[in-house]
Amino acid sequence: MKRIGVLTAGGDTPALNATIHGVVTRANARRVEVYGLIKGFNSLFNPRLPHVHLNPLYEQIPELDPTNGGTLLGASRDYLNGSDTDAVSLIADRLKQLGIEGLICVGGDGTLNGMQALSHSLPVVLAPKTIDNDLGLNHAAEASEWRRAETKPGVYCYQRIASNRSIDLDDIVNYVTPGFATAVFVAAGGIERVRTTAESHRRIAIIEVMGRESGYIALGSAYGQPDLILPPEHPVEVDSLVERVIELYEAQKNVVIVCGEGIKDTNGQLLGAKSSSTDPAGNKVFSGAAEALRSRLIDNIGDRYFRQLRRGESAGEVIFTRKVGHTQRGGRPLLFDRFYAAQQGGQAVDLLLDGQTNVIAALQWSRASGFTVSGFPVSGLLDPWGVIHPRKMHPSFYDTERMRPSPLGVEYLQQIFSGAVGHDDTEHLRERLFTPGRLVDPHRSINALMSRRIRYIA
Ligand code: F6P
Repeated sequence: MKRIGVLTAGGDTPALNATIHGVVTRANARRVEVYGLIKGFNSLFNPRLPHVHLNPLYEQIPELDPTNGGTLLGASRDYLNGSDTDAVSLIADRLKQLGIEGLICVGGDGTLNGMQALSHSLPVVLAPKTIDNDLGLNHAAEASEWRRAETKPGVYCYQRIASNRSIDLDDIVNYVTPGFATAVFVAAGGIERVRTTAESHRRIAIIEVMGRESGYIALGSAYGQPDLILPPEHPVEVDSLVERVIELYEAQKNVVIVCGEGIKDTNGQLLGAKSSSTDPAGNKVFSGAAEALRSRLIDNIGDRYFRQLRRGESAGEVIFTRKVGHTQRGGRPLLFDRFYAAQQGGQAVDLLLDGQTNVIAALQWSRASGFTVSGFPVSGLLDPWGVIHPRKMHPSFYDTERMRPSPLGVEYLQQIFSGAVGHDDTEHLRERLFTPGRLVDPHRSINALMSRRIRYIA
């Protein structure tokens, strides 16, 4: 292979540039040209196939900085529907025209579903990314633990088969995804900061974190020491939650609750999605789990309780919400993310050059060897009908009684976070943030820098 393509699909993460850097570094060493495709699958739908040469003369272009969050290639939620065979063959032709012999998609489960169709036309490898940490399996047999029902002719709904199976951390397929560690770092820091207001003003804070229907970010936010964590996998039982909140409020005069954006009530209704809107990739758009939870607490605790304790404040004044929001998805990646994202990018190149296709450059962990990167076949992630589902946080990571990580959850997180922050991460704070240049120099957008490098096919 002399020339490969790389694209970044789906939501951005802090580690995308680090993955691309890993791809280019390994490609330089193996004398392969790398063309970056602009804005994820969007570029493939464009007849002009916008692209940039990322390593002219096998040297990385200077705009590619692995310590910058986001992606210099741009990303989009455009989705490639595998059953659209016309679109797939047009795309394959375009890639051929550009001389692309293999493609690395940096993405999550949605990207992987789209990549399946392309795998019939050219060798493809996925380098994982997602702050949600929902790409992979809790154990190798998990992909078969699904049932499906036809809701309308040709429309299916998929449901996890409940399993009481315990897992060993060594069994996890793709232990953690690039971007997750930085997202947890930001979320935990935010929670720690909100606590001081909750304490000083005797308030109840509800902080919403991302993660769709997977509770890993919520679980990891335990590093910010919230009192209670509500991940989306566990339906919120309002009565026991209210009881715990009152108990805590009486003991310490403030409470900090973290909720995932995809939390559900005991009827299976999403608290934060009153409308059923979806993004172009078919993902639900969440509209405010923390706010919905706040209303439930206000209704159930009531003004009287706070008025007698707090000399006049209503429940609505005491209970407040904040979203960590897109700060958890952006900015400079932590050492852990940078290092392993780059390793996985490099591994993706090796997999392509070794003749493999339809594999992911997975990050494995074992007690014996720690973290290692290796290829994992996409076929191992497919359910019996060929669909890839987002990984849920395994129930054994969460203590439903205490609403906190279980001992196994703590052990899981420690492997990632015990060395996640590098010296350069703290040095960055000391040496870059408060320099006078930042007060006077305008931000130099990577989009503007890259636009002069974009080329098109005829
Ligand atoms: O999939 C990553 C993610 O960060 C989710 O956690 C979140 O629901 C979603 O993206 C938000 O997407 P957007 O910023 O595109 O609205």
